[in-house]
Amino acid sequence: MKQSDMVKFLDIFNQDKKIINLIYSDIKKIIKKNNFILGEEVTNFEKNFAKYCNSKHSIGCANGTDALFIALKSLNLPKNSEVILPAMTYCSTAFAIINAGLKPILVDIDKHAPTININEIKKKISKNTKVILPVHLYGSVVDIKKIRSLIGKRKIYIIDDCAQAHGAKLDNKRVGSLSDISCFSLYPGKNLGAYGDAGIITTNNKKLFAKMKNYRNLGSEKKFIHTQIGINSRLDTLQAAILNRKLDLLDRNNFNRIKIAKFYDDNISNKKITKINYSKHAVYHQYVICVKDRKKLAKIFDKNNIQYGYHYPKSINQIDSLKSIFKNKKYKNAEFIAKHGISLPIDPNLSKKDLIKVVDKLNSF
Ligand SMILES: Cc1ncc(COP(=O)(O)O)c(C=O)c1O
Repeated sequence: MKQSDMVKFLDIFNQDKKIINLIYSDIKKIIKKNNFILGEEVTNFEKNFAKYCNSKHSIGCANGTDALFIALKSLNLPKNSEVILPAMTYCSTAFAIINAGLKPILVDIDKHAPTININEIKKKISKNTKVILPVHLYGSVVDIKKIRSLIGKRKIYIIDDCAQAHGAKLDNKRVGSLSDISCFSLYPGKNLGAYGDAGIITTNNKKLFAKMKNYRNLGSEKKFIHTQIGINSRLDTLQAAILNRKLDLLDRNNFNRIKIAKFYDDNISNKKITKINYSKHAVYHQYVICVKDRKKLAKIFDKNNIQYGYHYPKSINQIDSLKSIFKNKKYKNAEFIAKHGISLPIDPNLSKKDLIKVVDKLNSF
């Protein structure tokens, strides 16, 4: 098989070709400077990313899982306080809640849609609910305004998991400015990704900002003064330099993802395929369809050198280490996507020829 015949799911090297020489020279400069930990590149990226999201503050950290953990820890909640999250998300969302000593309460997603069912949240709110943690899965944005009005005057925080939604909008507002705290992964394959693990948190709350910034650096702002029992979850300086360059490509890449999604929307016509509903200004981190016989489709893709993925093959209640917490509970819509969902190639630079090939295979299977 020739590499060029492959329809790639993602091709990061190709995405970054235009800026790779700038990145090489930035890395060289940092090595020369000998300033690897919390260098000025970190502060610069934090500033640039906060500005991009139209948020007042941001805190770089080691990865998206830590971003969620740090955000939850900053609220100082009583042990076992309840946190509402969707039943379909990456394991990290649930793990961060449990690792922070809090209790995950699952809510199903909407039918044939990636995100949490807001009417169902209403039924799950109790006097112990302290956080609602929606996930903008696949880059589809949850209506945070609706969640806010549902909360009303109760003291319940909203922390949104934005790991898959860099640059997406709700009306005119960017994700990262919608909630009390927003948590992003900058894992390489994300819409904005580093060359290794990385994450960032945004907030407009000055107090929480100061607390989280201190917490991610072992509770310290000044060397050997530790005011909190924090963790070491700093954003790496080299990664911050790379991210500063890559931030310039985000809007163009998102624009291309949206174009690809439109092509799939308009051209997939096979009745065996169920398309799922995305929000208006989604950024298509994944383009997921559902098919009854997923194995058969996967085989056709394999045979034709078309890469694909599953996001995710298990709903949160089905994950081995979490099964016992949610036993006997069913989350129909999340379990449906886990069983029937398949993610199509979504690299922002896919050619028309590649897209036609994918659609041809989909329409004839
Ligand atoms: C929805 C969601 N939440 C959290 C994470 C965790 O991010 P990370 O892998 O950077 O820890 C990811 C990414 O993998 C994700 O997709």
